[in-house]
Amino acid sequence: MPILITGASSGIGAACARHLGQVGKDLILAGRDESRLQAVAKSLPNQPQTLVGDLLTWAEDPDTLPPLPELEGVLWSAGICELSPAQRLSPKVLRRALAVNCEAPLLLLSYLYRKKILADGTQVILLGSSSAREAGPGFAAYAASKGALASSAKVLNQEFAPRQISVTCPEPGTVDTPMTQNLIKLFGGLQGDHEQTMLSPEQLAREICQTFLDKSSE
Ligand SMILES: NC(=O)c1ccc[n+]([C@@H]2O[C@H](COP(=O)([O-])OP(=O)(O)OC[C@H]3O[C@@H](n4cnc5c(N)ncnc54)[C@H](OP(=O)(O)O)[C@@H]3O)[C@@H](O)[C@H]2O)c1
Repeated sequence: MPILITGASSGIGAACARHLGQVGKDLILAGRDESRLQAVAKSLPNQPQTLVGDLLTWAEDPDTLPPLPELEGVLWSAGICELSPAQRLSPKVLRRALAVNCEAPLLLLSYLYRKKILADGTQVILLGSSSAREAGPGFAAYAASKGALASSAKVLNQEFAPRQISVTCPEPGTVDTPMTQNLIKLFGGLQGDHEQTMLSPEQLAREICQTFLDKSSE
C-alpha cells in the first residue's frame, strides 16, 4: 500500500518523497506544479504515481478526487506562509492560511477515513510548525492556522483510534526550503538566529520519515 505525500513538489514534502522513495516505499506524490512534481517523481526508482491539483478544490468537493487505493500512510506537507502585520491583516490572507493549512487537511482526511481509503493502522502525519506555539510579528495568520491544525490533529487521533489510525502533528522550527527562502528574500532575513540554526529539508525528512519506516519494520 502506498504513502500519500502532499506538497511533494517542493521543500520538506519533496525531501520526504526522496527519502522514502530511495528506500523503496510505494508513494503517491501530490502537488500543484506538475513539472516540479514530475521532476521529483522521475528522480525516484519506483516511479511513483502523481496527483496534480489544488487541494482546496478537492477539499470543497472530495468526490472530485481521482480514485485512490488504500493508503498505508499520509504525510501532509502542503502549506503556505504569507506574512502580514496584524494591523493590515486582510480577510483574504487570513482565510487563505486557514483554508490551505487547516481546512483542506481536515476535510480531506475526513473523506479518506469515511471512504476507508485510510487503511486500518494508517499513520497520518500533519506537518505543523513551532509557530503555533511561538511566532514573531507578521505570523498571526500562519500561527493561527498551525495552532488550529495541531489542536484538530489531537481530536482526529482520538476519533480514528478505533481503526488504529494515528494522527500526529510534529512542529518543526525553521527549515531551509523555498518557503523560507521566499521570506528571506521579501524581508531581507529572518528574525533572531533562525537562519543560522535552520535545518535542511533532508535533515527533517530523516526524522519525520522514520515514523513510517519504523512502522513497516514492525
Ligand atoms: N519551511 C519551514 O521553515 C517550515 C517550518 C515548519 C513547518 N513547515 C511546514 O512544512 C510544510 C512544507 O513547507 P515547505 O517549507 O516545504 O514549503 P514549500 O517549499 O513552499 O512547499 C509547499 C508545498 O505545498 C504545496 N501547496 C501549497 N498550497 C497548495 C494547494 N492549495 N494545493 C496543493 N498543494 C499546495 C506546494 O505545491 P506547489 O509548489 O506544487 O504549488 C508545495 O509542494 C508546510 O505545511 C509548512 O507550513 C515549514
